[in-house]
Amino acid sequence: MVKVMVVDDEEMLRTRMKSLLELEDYEVFTAENGLQALEVLKAENPEIVVSDIRMPGMDGVELLGKIKALAPAVEVIMLTGHGGIESAIEALKKGAFDYMSKPVNFDELCIAIKRALEVQALRHQMMFQQAQLVRTEKLSAVGELGAGVAHEMNQPLMAISTHLETLLMNEIIDGNPALKTKITKIKDQFNRLSTIVKRMHAYSGSRNEGFVQDTVNRPVQDGLFLFTQQFKDHNINVSLELDETLPPVHIDRYSLQDIVINFMVNARDALDEKFSLQEGGEVRVISRKLEVSKAVLVGLIDNGIAVKGGSEKSLFDPFFTTKPPGKGTGLGLSVSYNIIKAHDGYINFAPLKNDRKIFYFVIPLDRRNNLLSMPGFNEELKAFFESL
Ligand SMILES: Nc1ncnc2c1ncn2[C@@H]1O[C@H](COP(=O)(O)OP(=O)(O)OP(=O)(O)O)[C@@H](O)[C@H]1O
Ligand SMILES: [Mg+2]
Repeated sequence: MVKVMVVDDEEMLRTRMKSLLELEDYEVFTAENGLQALEVLKAENPEIVVSDIRMPGMDGVELLGKIKALAPAVEVIMLTGHGGIESAIEALKKGAFDYMSKPVNFDELCIAIKRALEVQALRHQMMFQQAQLVRTEKLSAVGELGAGVAHEMNQPLMAISTHLETLLMNEIIDGNPALKTKITKIKDQFNRLSTIVKRMHAYSGSRNEGFVQDTVNRPVQDGLFLFTQQFKDHNINVSLELDETLPPVHIDRYSLQDIVINFMVNARDALDEKFSLQEGGEVRVISRKLEVSKAVLVGLIDNGIAVKGGSEKSLFDPFFTTKPPGKGTGLGLSVSYNIIKAHDGYINFAPLKNDRKIFYFVIPLDRRNNLLSMPGFNEELKAFFESL
């Protein structure tokens, strides 16, 4: 519900506006002076403020300045008594959204509030697009850098490989089992390094491959592969349960890999918050065919801290984060949401028994099928989650 705060020193007016605005489905808070208004602003975060200009103590224009400093996105509509045109102009200069003269025409006030909300939504949308652009640009810069580094590493890696092979074939080594074990270990680590470099190269080189027919297992495996060491470092136990019989679907593999990585970063943070790098953290990565819904599901289960109470509805909103500044931008899930929308799929999370939860996405085998209107979709999901 949209929150509106009404600030006026006349009690009658406050009460009347509150009940009228409540009829329009706004959640309304009132304050009788500037100081109280600032308290309500901090506690309730209203989207819109309707404030009288002439008030004892802090007047409306001063209050407006303080509101704009504390919460620049809040739109303020000023009310003036007669002859208050000068202060109204001053208020507009200071960033008020609009002003109207008292006695207030309630219909006009409602229209002004609606317009203010529209402007807010537009501004929010623009900010989101800008942030997404920065994120994409960052990703592609990282991609290019990765491709460059991977390419540069190829030559020395090839050389090391050749030298290792020659060493292993040397007779001296054959006569020295301890040395041979050591060199075989080096070779194993080397193989791992080559795989990482190859995947980095593939990841950064083909980010723009677009949609292809493939099973969702590939992006899941590749995403997890890039994360294996991190999970180890954080003492998190990972198990991978892929359904090997999955049919191919129409997917953008690199975008899906991004979602898997987003899920993994979030699970890591939730686990760190609960276990502080000590043992006990578990992650299960699963893929599964949903027979009834004719779709495939990818999910990531973790036993980290629960989704914070009250935030369930906002998780997929742009900029929604419960993490400290600098740690989370609140874009991971909203970007994932957009990617899944482009796949005509469905993304959500669900609590599971034993204090666990699953973040998952579902992609229909046939894109023309709208999952939510697919008979049995919710029931199939529910039964599956209960079995986990
Ligand atoms: N596995 C999880 N367990 C508990 N809470 C989660 C989990 N995944 C997401 N959340 C909650 O959802 C919020 C939004 O997640 P999202 O990935 O969109 O943003 P973020 O992780 O905060 O920042 P960013 O991904 O941009 O770095 C998180 O701040 C967190 O509160
Ligand atoms: Mg995240």
